Amino acid sequence: MKYKRRILITGGAGFIGSHVVRLFVNKYPDYLIVNLDALTYAGNLANLIDIEKAPNYRFVKADIADLQRMREVIADNNIDGVIHLAAESHVDRSIRDPFTFARTNVMGTLALLQAAKEYWESRPEKYDGKLFYHISTDEVYGALELTTPEGIESPFRTKASAEKQHAYGTDFFVETSKYNPHSPYSASKASSDHFVRAYHDTYGMPTIVTNCSNNYGPYQFPEKLIPLFINNIRNHKPLPVYCKGENVRDWLFVEDHARAIDLIFHQGKVADTYNIGGFNEWKNIDIVKVLIRTVDKILGNPEGYSDSLITFVSDRAGHDLRYAIDSRKLQQELGWEPSLQFEEGIEKTVRWYLDNQEWVDNITSGEYENYYKEMYGNK
Ligand code: NAD
Ligand code: TYD
Repeated sequence: MKYKRRILITGGAGFIGSHVVRLFVNKYPDYLIVNLDALTYAGNLANLIDIEKAPNYRFVKADIADLQRMREVIADNNIDGVIHLAAESHVDRSIRDPFTFARTNVMGTLALLQAAKEYWESRPEKYDGKLFYHISTDEVYGALELTTPEGIESPFRTKASAEKQHAYGTDFFVETSKYNPHSPYSASKASSDHFVRAYHDTYGMPTIVTNCSNNYGPYQFPEKLIPLFINNIRNHKPLPVYCKGENVRDWLFVEDHARAIDLIFHQGKVADTYNIGGFNEWKNIDIVKVLIRTVDKILGNPEGYSDSLITFVSDRAGHDLRYAIDSRKLQQELGWEPSLQFEEGIEKTVRWYLDNQEWVDNITSGEYENYYKEMYGNK
């Protein structure tokens, strides 16, 4: 079949990547979607069982830091677009093991850029119709002040937070905010963002970078706040809240991020940057209370049943106080809006984790390695 586009999505077996792969495979049957993933602890092909037999889908197990392999995959599949999500993504792991983060996030991104550059420059049409789209995080901008600890009414409204809309400061990350990363994770992502822009400025490669706020939803590895705490509440285990739980994060439902990626891949301006977020700031402790309420309600526990699980523990080293994204550029230029209100998104997420306990158990026990071997052998 002659495909209209031939897209390489990296990190497609991970949390956000699996939602992006699913969206593209289903929405664009005339595109070839190549999912490239190293299947680290965070990558699971079981996240994609529903689309793995689609005729326009291919999976390649590979490490993005392997330059020769990236050259082969891009050339063999005649790739004309890259959506790059593969990364080490957990801040706490980056504090313990920064080298792995530099290797994958910096050297891996560089290898992918270089392989795409060599292949596209070797083609008669060169960079025409090509795009390297890099998915990044708001954490590259550093931390914002928490100037209004009780919260003020947000100056912005979106569907994601129409009812209850708090801001915990008067400043927000915009596309021109200065990079000021603090954790080894955000430092590695900042570095990769700079390399992507350097490939545009130096070699003329068409690139786009987007910086998104914290995502939540199905298929997130249960080491991150929301899935970890849902699982712990279900198993009546302690909920380790760092410091006093006063840190603020800006939350977006993962499918809304995937829709933004689709829109930007097709309509975004080359060499530009877009911030993605739903104007949906929450203090960690308030999120924890929402999770307790939601899980207890669904499981039929009496009100307040799990409150005693909250356990304040030592703070994370270098813990950023507040993240808050201003995504008006994306809304105004490309018409994107988050579709889900936070309460709806949280309820959907909690129900998904409670209904998919086997997925959680398998992902934490290494069971999916066996699944992969059965499906694909040792390739
Ligand atoms: P994740 O940890 O769930 O998934 C990462 C995927 O990358 C996994 O499937 C893993 O196997 C794969 N991978 C890791 N190292 C690799 C390597 N060397 N070669 C090939 N594949 C490799 O991460 P996520 O939360 O889905 O995040 C995806 C991207 O989005 C990351 O680039 C992250 O920085 C960015 N991001 C995440 C969030 C968030 O809240 N999760 C917010 C903004 C941006
Ligand atoms: P996390 O989900 O790790 O995302 P990020 O660090 O990228 O924002 O953490 C979200 C917030 O929750 C962050 O402020 C740290 C806090 N947190 C806890 O209090 N306890 C935990 O066990 C975890 C994993 C996170």
